[in-house]
Formats: sequence, C-alpha cells, structure tokens
Amino acid sequence: MKTIFEPFRIKTVEPLRMTSREERINILEQADWNLFRVRADDILIDLLTDSGTGAMSAEQWAALNRGDESYAGSRSWFRFEERVRELTGFKHIIPTHQGRAAERILFTCLGVAGKLVINNTHFDTTRANVEVLGGRAVDIPVPEAHIPADESPFKGNIDLGALERLLAGSADRIACVMITVTNNSGGGQPASLANLRAASELCRAAGVPFYLDACRFAENAYFIKLREPGCADRTVESIAREMFSLADGATFSAKKDGLANIGGFLAANEDRLARQEEELLILTEGFPTYGGLAGRDLEAIAVGLTEVVDEDYLRYRVASTRYLGEGLIKAGMPIVRPPGGHAIYIDAGAFLPHIPQTELPAQALACAFYIEGGVRGVEIGTLMFGGKDPATGKDRVAPLELLRLAIPRRVYTQSHIDYLIEVAGTVAQKRRELCGFRIVEEAEHLRHFTARLAPVEVGAMVMA
Ligand code: F0G
Repeated sequence: MKTIFEPFRIKTVEPLRMTSREERINILEQADWNLFRVRADDILIDLLTDSGTGAMSAEQWAALNRGDESYAGSRSWFRFEERVRELTGFKHIIPTHQGRAAERILFTCLGVAGKLVINNTHFDTTRANVEVLGGRAVDIPVPEAHIPADESPFKGNIDLGALERLLAGSADRIACVMITVTNNSGGGQPASLANLRAASELCRAAGVPFYLDACRFAENAYFIKLREPGCADRTVESIAREMFSLADGATFSAKKDGLANIGGFLAANEDRLARQEEELLILTEGFPTYGGLAGRDLEAIAVGLTEVVDEDYLRYRVASTRYLGEGLIKAGMPIVRPPGGHAIYIDAGAFLPHIPQTELPAQALACAFYIEGGVRGVEIGTLMFGGKDPATGKDRVAPLELLRLAIPRRVYTQSHIDYLIEVAGTVAQKRRELCGFRIVEEAEHLRHFTARLAPVEVGAMVMA
C-alpha cells in the first residue's frame, strides 16, 4: 500500500482557529516579526518544534493516573529507572526536568571551563551551556553535512579524521566528545553505528569521555536499521542498546523520543562523577528519585520509551516526514537531503539568493510561511547561530541558512501535511518579492528566542 498509515486512531481532538492572511500580517507585526512571540492560538500548523509537543497515547494517560508522588523512592521512579536502564544499560540514571538541565549538570561536573567540548554539531542549548561555563564548543560534522543536496545516508556522522587530530593534539584539553543523534542542527541526519563505534574507540584510547546527546535515539536507530549494512534484521531496541553501550553516558530530553511533554535524564557509568552530578541535582532540580519531575511524568516517559521503539510507529514517522520533504521539493524548495527523522530543513539560502545572510533569509522564509498559511517553523541560521563571537567579538554568520519544519509526534494527519505542501507552493510563487530582516533588539545568549526584528524594506513582506 502506498498510503501512509498512521498506526493510531484519534480519541481527543483540539480545535484549530482559522485566521485570515490580513490577521496574520497584523499578528506578526505586533510580534516584531519573531514567531516565538506569537501566541500559539494564532498558529494553524505549529512546526516550531517536535519537543514536548507530541500526543500521548491512551497507555501514557493511564500511566499518569498511576503516578506516585512520594518525595523519595516513589514507585514511578523505579518504573522509570528500570525502563531507562533496560534501554541504555547505564549504571547511574539521573532524572532532570528536561535535556538542558542534564547538559548544565554534566558540563558543570566535567569542568568545561577553559576546555573543549567536541560534537558532530552542538544544539543551541548545548553550545550555550558549554560557553556560559567558559568552555569552547567545537563542531566537527563530516564534510557532506554542509552540502544540503548531498544524499549520503549518514550525514550525522562525526568527522573521525578531525576527531583523531584533536585527540592527538590536545586530549588533556578536551572535557568530552559528544555525538548528537540525530544531528538536529545539521538537518536531523543520523549517525551510523560504525561511526559511533569508531568515535568511541578513539575516545577510549585517548581517555576522553564519550557521550551521546540522545534526544532522537529511536529515529537514529531506525535509520540505522534501514540504511546500515547488516542491520535490516535487527530490532530498533537492540540497535539503540548498542548505540548506548558505546558511550560513557548520555544526556536526554524526554520531550522528543521520550514521547512525553516534559522530562529528561543524565546518565553516567562512572561512580564519582555520578555522585557529584547527584549532589548538584539536589541543589537545583530535586531529589534523585524525581529530579524536577512529578511522579506522573516519570510514568509517562517510562511508557513513551517503550512505544517509541515500535517499528510501525517509526515507519509512519519517517515516511510522513519524507512525504513532506518530497512535496516541498516538488513545490520548488531546496531541502537538506535526505529528509531527516523529525523535521524538514528548507535551504533558505539557496531558495532566496537575493537576500544576503546578514539579512536573515531563513527568517524571511519563516515569516512568509506564517503569512501565507499560518504555519510556524523555526529559523536555524544566522539569527540562531550568529551574533558576536565570544573569542573575537566579531559578528558571525551561520554555515547554513535553514528553516526547520519540525513535526510533533502523532499530532498532525496526512491532510495537514498536504496543506503544508500547498502553502509551500504559494510561498514559492512569491519568492522574489520576499525581503530580508534586520535585528532591532537582541539578548546576549540565545538571541533568537526574544529578538525584535524589522523587515529591511518596510511593507515588502506584507505586499508580497
Ligand atoms: N539536544 C538536542 C539535540 C535538542 O534538539 C534539544 C532540544 C536539546 C538538546 C535540549 O533539550 O529542550 O529538553 O532542554 N531541542 C528542541 C528543538 C528545543 O526544538 O529542537 P530540552
């Protein structure tokens, strides 16, 4: 069958409020052209993030009712710990309220000040957590990761040659090496088992800790099953276990492949480090058997971590994302290929060559999607990754100007995806009329969340 089959039926619905193009222009002006400032009720299809936006299953809702809210030693904690340990094999599991809390605790305890953290590509919060603690975040993706049209199957791999050189030259200055699976900022692309194995061996030989940023481990494991020789007959669970077994620890946001609306964990094998991490956890997150989460959240995550490795679910998830990608290509939009697991990334730099990088072409495209169809995506380009270089004080531009359309898990139907493709067609017809943006006001860190912007040609966005 060709039809993409959603392996679930809908039990609860949430109405969407329709808006007109005129209303949306007004809303965007009021929000200073920053989609983070728009009320969710004013969005038709919200693809800002796949983080915490998924729909829970009937089993997860039932699990919420079983939540044990005891402060210490709750039943829900033991359920959570058991499932995380079964899946990851790590010795110490430290619950956190979300992924970035795990990052902050990890980088504080590893002591990244004055040191390097190496990653295929740091996600924005990961980079910011390294930099705010005085460390340097270094990205070494494979070269093909920078070529959106390249169809290589594992563009989330880390550059092993670059890693070897860094480890040989300055292992004592490296706080840890991470691989982000899938590589979110690099297009949602997976890393291969072979790459994870090789990176793990290099790190072990150099005595440097090797971590996974495991937010989308299940999607990564499913891509390994589909694409890596010798893996077709393995279960996603066994591939995921092997991925985790190669690392000394992991950070995890349960808001992605935990299929939950909140939560995360930090995992480690080393006893002394884990003790330090637990001490910091108690100071800022909570007691080690809840770590900033309610017992009911721990229950929902424990169930989510089982549902997410279901292959019917993953088949639908990956097929639906691919369908959107192929539809956008047909509508005339260049995308990062091959389509990733959780999102499609439109190459706004290539799509809008008349807008220079300093005028934020991906932000221009984000605004056009909202005006034409009420669709909210997120800029992953110079607005997110530019700003002042902490070392040189100079303005930097991002390596790629992307608009990410991230797909919440189990939320939108194929009709919604068809609508998105139609909106893309309308935007494509108007591409030459879109204009760039300038930043009117910005924060020092993570400026994209709160920046106020203005179109460089007043009225141009509106007239298009
Ligand atoms: N690492 C990666 C690869 C992520 O994608 C995220 C979050 C985090 C860490 C932090 O996790 O949000 O639970 O604190 N990504 C979201 C996104 C926000 O939209 O891609 P968190």
